[in-house]
Amino acid sequence: MTRAEIFIGTIINPSKDKISIDVIENGFIIVNDSKIVGLGQHKDLENTLSTIPELSTIYVPRVTLKKNQFLIPGFIDTHIHAPQYPNAGLGYDEPLLEWLNKYTYNLESKYSDLKFSEKVYNAVVNKTLSYGTTTACYFASMFKDSSLVLVNAAIDQGQRAFIGKINMIRLAPDNYVETAVDSLNHTVEFIETVIAKGSDLVQPVITPRFALSVDAKLMSQLGLLAQKYNLVIQTHISENVDEVEMVHDMYNGSSYADVYNAAGLLTKKTVLAHGVYLTEEERTLLAAKGTSISHCPNSNTRLKSGLCDVRKLQESGINIGLGTDVAGGASASIIDAMRCAIDTSTHLTHMIKDSKPITYYEAFYMATMGGAIALDISDKVGSLEVGKDFDALIVDMDVPDSSAHLLEDYAADELLQKFVFLGDDRNVQSVYVAGKKVK
Ligand code: GUN
Ligand code: FE
Repeated sequence: MTRAEIFIGTIINPSKDKISIDVIENGFIIVNDSKIVGLGQHKDLENTLSTIPELSTIYVPRVTLKKNQFLIPGFIDTHIHAPQYPNAGLGYDEPLLEWLNKYTYNLESKYSDLKFSEKVYNAVVNKTLSYGTTTACYFASMFKDSSLVLVNAAIDQGQRAFIGKINMIRLAPDNYVETAVDSLNHTVEFIETVIAKGSDLVQPVITPRFALSVDAKLMSQLGLLAQKYNLVIQTHISENVDEVEMVHDMYNGSSYADVYNAAGLLTKKTVLAHGVYLTEEERTLLAAKGTSISHCPNSNTRLKSGLCDVRKLQESGINIGLGTDVAGGASASIIDAMRCAIDTSTHLTHMIKDSKPITYYEAFYMATMGGAIALDISDKVGSLEVGKDFDALIVDMDVPDSSAHLLEDYAADELLQKFVFLGDDRNVQSVYVAGKKVK
């Protein structure tokens, strides 16, 4: 039987020109199974419905949004470490490389335990969904079987997810590195097991942790796997000054971006987290390759990595998505990531003459369309349009005890501003992924 539903109310999309938002005040969206099959002004609803043969003769349930509620596309977290979730909000006394050694590898090494994996991974998927993350691009751990537990958690809870078993063959404790042979073989097994599950929502991702964890040969082999299976690639780049210097030392003075490029890892399906210290040449290279940056402002502050200048990335023509980077970032919420992105950009305007901070609608674009482009799924999600999957949130800005206290009437764009600057999971009333209600 057809599963169809009609939503009536205010619809807000990121605008394609990135310099505003598209609002339909009295709108409708018709959803049939996973897809949006009709969208427009409420007055045109019955006409549109009559042109859809499957739906014109059956009863289709209707959801009418209340005042101060609106529909937006679901959020896309382009960079989050699921196994690090227990450390969210802890251990920000050290910068990146020391933080990895003191806190992160120790925690990640515990995921050889599948029961522990199940407990944490179900919690992460549940929490990110509750914040409105309809798509997440996850780093799992080095362990293949544990990474499959995360795959199952996403499938079970209905989250769209890109999930990578991490490759790491050096620079970590003995109980948390693998041989190059195991690294490659386990990656192939992971990829084939995920593909065999036949999920429409969950895909494997090629995930060398960062240049310091692997070597040129393994990276090239991973590049070939990405090509063979047509996969998204994710890793870190230029996050921290000491890290960048170590990469130069380890790879004969090559730039960080050149190290990845030489291995065939820069594609239009590649997402590089951070990119705080990219040179002009590196930015030009990434733009030419169609490679995106996952901007992780909460993490860049918590780990004292630096201030990523999003304007400079934009000017180079690089697409940008947002990442929470839990547990480098303390919050698993993309609403928080939007705020932090605006904060960092605002702070930079005090240091860079004539620069303008990014606006709430630019942050909203990065959290939705920017992320979809980064993961090469902008034909499917990232905005509410006919033909795309219905990955959407009903936001309610008038809920008891929320941070946003509505004492006047507000226009749709004002409600979105309040959501960006004051919102949290209490305001995310319903979450849909591919037409299915998951919150
Ligand atoms: N670089 C290499 N590994 C990591 C990690 O786990 N988190 C962050 N933020 N940067 C990294
Ligand atoms: Fe990270």
